[in-house]
Amino acid sequence: MIEEKLQQLEKTYRDWMAIQVETNTPLALLESLVTKDFMGYGTTLEEKLLGIEDLKKMIIAGREQAEQFEDFKFDIPKPVQRQLYPDNGLAIFVDEIDLKFKIGGIQNTIPLRVSTVLIFMDTTWKIVHWHVSVAVETEEGDTFHLDELQLKNQKLEKLVDERTAALKQSIADLKATQAQLIQSEKMASLGELTAGIAHEIQNPLNFVNNFSEVSNELIDEMNEEIDKGDIEEAKHISKDIKQNLEKITHHGKRADAIVKGMLQHSRKSTAEKEPTDINKLADEYLRLAYHGLRAKDKTFNATLETNFDESVGRVNVIPQDMGRVILNLITNAFYACAERSRSATNAKKSSFTETSEDSYKPTVSVSTKKMNNSIEISVKDNGNGIPQEIVDKIYEPFFTTKPTGEGTGLGLSMSYDIVTKGHGGELKVDTEKGKGTTFTIKLITN
Ligand SMILES: Nc1ncnc2c1ncn2[C@@H]1O[C@H](COP(=O)(O)OP(=O)(O)OP(=O)(O)O)[C@@H](O)[C@H]1O
Ligand SMILES: [Mg+2]
Repeated sequence: MIEEKLQQLEKTYRDWMAIQVETNTPLALLESLVTKDFMGYGTTLEEKLLGIEDLKKMIIAGREQAEQFEDFKFDIPKPVQRQLYPDNGLAIFVDEIDLKFKIGGIQNTIPLRVSTVLIFMDTTWKIVHWHVSVAVETEEGDTFHLDELQLKNQKLEKLVDERTAALKQSIADLKATQAQLIQSEKMASLGELTAGIAHEIQNPLNFVNNFSEVSNELIDEMNEEIDKGDIEEAKHISKDIKQNLEKITHHGKRADAIVKGMLQHSRKSTAEKEPTDINKLADEYLRLAYHGLRAKDKTFNATLETNFDESVGRVNVIPQDMGRVILNLITNAFYACAERSRSATNAKKSSFTETSEDSYKPTVSVSTKKMNNSIEISVKDNGNGIPQEIVDKIYEPFFTTKPTGEGTGLGLSMSYDIVTKGHGGELKVDTEKGKGTTFTIKLITN
């Protein structure tokens, strides 16, 4: 009788283990294997099983997970402990099973320890309790893995320290690079300025040279007339010389102002705000930007338009900073026009039909407007516009769509800082794809 009971017990236990380790064993078998009030605990916190349905769910989930791994299999269970009380209808089995699988070709093994409690009900053995845990190797005596945890903690802390140090270093590197880039942005816009300035100085210098040459000749003529005794004519000539000298002074002063402006621009901005003729400032920088660009690309041409509101007058700004903003906006505007020009020419080359781009006329206009307690300076171009997906990024430092080496992406971020932080104003953009872009600086005047 006992013998038979024990054989039954062996079979029940074998079936039970088969369900766990052989993933093709039908789950229907469970109905006859476990009690209604079956209770089990898996290796994770959620694996708390009350009743057969919970058990089924867990096994199904486990089998699904198993499919995602290479060579997923359980080793043959190794008996660890058996406590059998057949007389009392109670049996406790403890086995160890290695769970094996590969991740990325690398073999992994998880040692599991499985305890099962069976009771004899009416005529059959049934599983009433089951518990699986992961048997982790640890130092002797470290029952709760405290030493191990501490060790892990120390390793983590060390890692955090190392990473923090590395991060600090890269932040320091970044700051250095940024400072360097800001400096090179200044140099780049200085380069643009210089080309413009060279052109601007050429004009007054030509006047100075020509008028002084002419005056030299006039003095000879005057001397001749004096020798002849024609004082009237000599006086007449001296009047011309005087006029020429006035022109020389005028153009000399103009050149002087340009050079002063250049010096101011290259200096670090610690400058104070001063009442500045906004229209004049905008006009000067428009021409500087244009000639700067033309110096780089002789083929580029654009129509310049200005629409200055005379009532704008003088506004308290730091002239070289505001000039830098206007220069960058205008340079960007010209760039956008040049881009569209290029794509228009390409479109023309590849097409036999007339396109609207055939008649494209690059135009940049600068206008000012006086309002109640503010003024506006706008720079408008009819380039390709700024795509909606990047319009939020244009003020970010280093954001640029220009090829490497052509733009630092600092122009607008510096402009934004100068207008908002430096002058308490606003810088706004309005753009439409294929139509163009308008940047507007708004400054409060009282
Ligand atoms: N008028 C404009 N039309 C179209 N896109 C513009 C215009 N102005 C700015 N952008 C876009 O905003 C980006 C950032 O401009 P920003 O002036 O900050 O830098 P950048 O011109 O690229 O470089 P940098 O000014 O340093 O030479 C540009 O690369 C361009 O994509
Ligand atoms: Mg720019």
